Order: sequence, then C-alpha cells, then structure tokens
Amino acid sequence: MGMASAQKQEGIARGASRKDGGTKMEEEGIRFEQGKLFYNTHMQLCRSFSSLLVGSLGGELSFLDGFCASGIRGIRYAKENPNVSSLDFVDISEEAAGLALENANGNGLESVQAHHAEFNSFMMEREYDFVEIDPFGSPAPYTYHAIRSFRGKKEGYLSISATDTAVLCGAHPHACKRVYHSTPLHDEILHECGIRILWKYVSNIANEFNFGIKPLASLSHRHFFKIFLKLERGSERALDSFGKIGYVNFCHSCGHRQSGKYGLETCPKCGKKPGACGPLWLGELHDLETIRKMKELNSQRDYSDKAKLDSLLSLMEGEVGMPPWFYEVHASCRRLNIQPPPRIDALIEKLKEEGFGAVRTHFTPLGIKTDAGICGFGRALSDSRTPNKD
Ligand SMILES: C[S@@+](CC[C@H](N)C(=O)[O-])C[C@H]1O[C@@H](n2cnc3c(N)ncnc32)[C@H](O)[C@@H]1O
Ligand SMILES: [Zn+2]
Repeated sequence: MGMASAQKQEGIARGASRKDGGTKMEEEGIRFEQGKLFYNTHMQLCRSFSSLLVGSLGGELSFLDGFCASGIRGIRYAKENPNVSSLDFVDISEEAAGLALENANGNGLESVQAHHAEFNSFMMEREYDFVEIDPFGSPAPYTYHAIRSFRGKKEGYLSISATDTAVLCGAHPHACKRVYHSTPLHDEILHECGIRILWKYVSNIANEFNFGIKPLASLSHRHFFKIFLKLERGSERALDSFGKIGYVNFCHSCGHRQSGKYGLETCPKCGKKPGACGPLWLGELHDLETIRKMKELNSQRDYSDKAKLDSLLSLMEGEVGMPPWFYEVHASCRRLNIQPPPRIDALIEKLKEEGFGAVRTHFTPLGIKTDAGICGFGRALSDSRTPNKD
C-alpha cells in the first residue's frame, strides 16, 4: 500500500498503551493485539471474502474501515491488496482506535489514521472511495450517513455487514417492518429473502442521493449477511434500481413461488393465501465479472479457507441469472409427500434433462435454484427420487 497522509484531526488516536497485557492473535499471517476488544474468529472467512472483493476492484482506493475494533479488516485489506492507497480507521471506542493504529503500525502500515468518533458524526465531513460498515447488529442506523458521504462523487464502494439476520429473516416481523420497512418471510427461503430486504433498504437510500446500485457480491453465511456494492450516480441509474424492487410470493401450501411488483392475495396454483415478502430487491445479487476476478485472486492466495471460498464463489457464479428464490429439497419433498428425497446432483441432472436451468445455491446445501415452476420441479423430484430398497 502506498500512502501519504498527515495526522491532523482532533479525536485522532495516538496508539493504545495497555499495561494489562492484551491477547496476541494471528489471522492469515497478520499478527495483531486484540486487547479487550471484539474479535470474532468466525468472521475470518468473511474478512478473506471481503479482501478478495477489494482486490478485484483494481484502481486506487482511499479506504475507511468503519467500526474497526482491532483494525484487522482494514489491515488485511491494505496488506493484501495493492489498490488500497490510504487507510483510515474509525471506532467509537478510544481503545479500539488506538489499538487499530498500533496494530497497523506493527504490520508496517505507517501512514494510517485512526479516529475515535461516532460513525455518523464522523461521516458528516468525510469522503472516501470505499467505506466498510461492520457494526454490531443492524447496519440500518449507519447506511444513510455512509451513502451520504459519497454525495460529491460520481461513484463509490460500500461493504455492509448485518448480523441482525433474525430480524431480516422474519423471526421478529415487526422489527423488520420498523427497521427495514419490509415484510419478511420466515419460511424455507428466508435467508435469500432477508438479504434481498437488506438490498432494497440500501437501494432506496442510494436513490435519495441520486445513485443507482450495482450489487457486486452478496454473502449469507452462519449468522451474518455481507453485501458489497458500487454506487453509480445518475437519475436513470437510480430509477433502474428502483425498478428492481418488488415482492417474492411464496405459497407454503403448494410451494409455488412468484416474483413481481406486488404481493399476491391468492396463490394462482392452489388458491390459498401465499406469504408475500417485500418490498425487496429482485435484481442480481452478484456481479459475474467481480465474482470471477475474486475466484482468480483466491487461487493465487493461500487463505486457510481457500477451498471453502472457491466453492462459495462457484455457487455464486451459478446464481447469476437465476430466479430470486430457490427450492429447498427436503421441505419440498415433505410438502409433496415424496420420500425418500432424491440426491441433489441427480435432481439437478433431471431438471437439466427436462430443459430447465438448475444450480445449487450458497444459501443452503439443500437448495436448488431453477427456472422450473412448482409442477416441473415436483415432476423432477418424483422422477429422480432414490428407489426404496424394500
Ligand atoms: C462488530 S465490531 C467490528 C469488528 C471488526 N470490524 C472486525 O472485523 O474484527 C463493531 C465495532 O463497532 C464499534 N462501534 C459501535 N458503535 C459505533 C458507532 N456508532 N460508531 C463507531 N463505532 C462504533 C464498536 O466499538 C466495535 O469495536
Ligand atoms: Zn399455492
């Protein structure tokens, strides 16, 4: 990383001096001090995925690691990618800002700046090419100020984490309506619907600032969602994004799925009332070119999650161009009374033989994305089931 910047702002961190002895950690060859700060080893794969995405963008990016805690994200992005031209940290905790600075310096990053400040206040007077939002829980309280900070620019990049997946996926429907202004779905496609609600929320705010959004990648893993986007200025782009907002209707009775501008009152297949989830984002979740560049970069790196990342990226590649839902095979078999369930590979082959597109999805190992309707899918399920031995 090449950087030239002076420390000039009040509230800037000078480096933490701890006498209590912190905890030395290591992640992908980066040694750092955790102190008493938040550090989740389960997010290592997410940080590697995010670093691949940063690397895939090329150019020269001024970078803000918002919500930096120990600084491990920003440090990894800057150490692993030559296109990070400057790095700032911000955290509401003074200890975090100090430690992030110390950890960055300890890893040979000399001209970083670390600020102890509240994110939204900090963003009022700041501008970066790439902003990372990695808060506890919901990113909703910070999205407006993050997007607003790009108002003087033609484009910019955002990376947003959400760990309030229970809200987005319908375990607390009232909270989802209150925070994200959407009705969630607590059924077999809940994770895809949840991440699409998050996308809709971000898209609507981008539109307010005359930006359209280009989703670069969407990751649903364990307890979190992570989305990456490019903001693109212009009213046409904004309207184009607005046009991709709608509903996913899911009939729990017969398994029919249908997307469209509106929520349905009646299932066109069985006449029962479907679950109408939305408004949500109906556009693509990933950009094919970005995913392919990430795969290529991953093949050149020695991440401990290399194989897992490759498999996730391959699944994402397959998801592009498919409908905004999937079929969960075991739930579909229970609904259609087909036992035992077929092998997923056999089912995909059968669907392809029948002329449908069919791929696995990263949302669940038991999911299939296909353009087959419920009748075609049900037929393929029945035709590809494993025969009973007795
Ligand atoms: C989930 S942790 C960040 C983890 C870190 N990015 C990593 O990958 O290890 C969230 C951090 O956000 C900080 N934080 C919470 N609210 C904040 C706010 N309003 N403004 C700035 N930082 C905040 C906390 O002090 C905490 O360090
Ligand atoms: Zn139905």
